[in-house]
Amino acid sequence: MADKIKIVGFTGSLRKNSYNLAALRAAATLLPEEAELEILDISALPFFNEDVEAEGVPEVVHKFKEKLAAADAVLLATPEYNYSLPPALKNALDWASRGDYNPLANKPTAIMSASIGMFGGARAQYHLRQVCVRLNAQVLNQPEVFIANAGTKFAEDGTLTDERTQNSIKRLLKALIEKVKA
Ligand SMILES: Cc1cc2nc3c(=O)[nH]c(=O)nc-3n(C[C@H](O)[C@H](O)[C@H](O)COP(=O)(O)O)c2cc1C
Repeated sequence: MADKIKIVGFTGSLRKNSYNLAALRAAATLLPEEAELEILDISALPFFNEDVEAEGVPEVVHKFKEKLAAADAVLLATPEYNYSLPPALKNALDWASRGDYNPLANKPTAIMSASIGMFGGARAQYHLRQVCVRLNAQVLNQPEVFIANAGTKFAEDGTLTDERTQNSIKRLLKALIEKVKA
C-alpha cells in the first residue's frame, strides 16, 4: 500500500479546550483514507529571540522544523486575538522562517479559523495569509473556512457537531490533498 499523504496541523491557541484545536481534531476524523493528520504542539517553543538563536537553536525548534519539513502539507487553525493572529502562532512561524532552511517554502498549506465572534476569525486569517506570503508557503486561497460563533458548533467534549462546518473542513482538506498531488 502506498504511503499516506502526511499533513501536520497546529494552532495558535494554547488552551486545552480550544475550538481551533477541536477543529484540527475534527479535521483528523474528516480526512479521506489516503491522508493522515498529526497535530503538533507548539506550546514548548520558546519566545523568539535572536540572542537565543545565536547561542544555539533549541532542540524543540529543530524538531518542530523537521516535522514541518517531513510533511506533505500543513493545516493551520488560528484564533483571532485583537483582529490578528495570536503570538504563539506568529512565534512558531518566525522560528520556522529562520536558520538554514524554511520548511514552509512551497509547502501546500491550508488555513482555517475559529472564533466565538460572528466573523469566525476572518481578520486574523488575512493577517496569517500575509505572513505566509513572506514564508512562501503555497496557501490555498479557496475554500475559506471561518468557524463563526464557535461556541455553538462544538459539543462540551470538543466534538464538532455542526454539519455545515464538517462539510467545509472536508472541502478544504480535499483541496489541500489535490494541491499535494498536483
Ligand atoms: C486576547 C484575546 C483577544 C481576542 N480578540 C478577538 C477578536 O479580535 N476577534 C474575535 O472574534 N475574537 C477574539 N477573541 C475571542 C476568541 O475568539 C476566543 O477566545 C476563541 O475561543 C479563541 O480560540 P480558541 O478557542 O481556539 O482558544 C479574543 C480572545 C483573546 C484571549
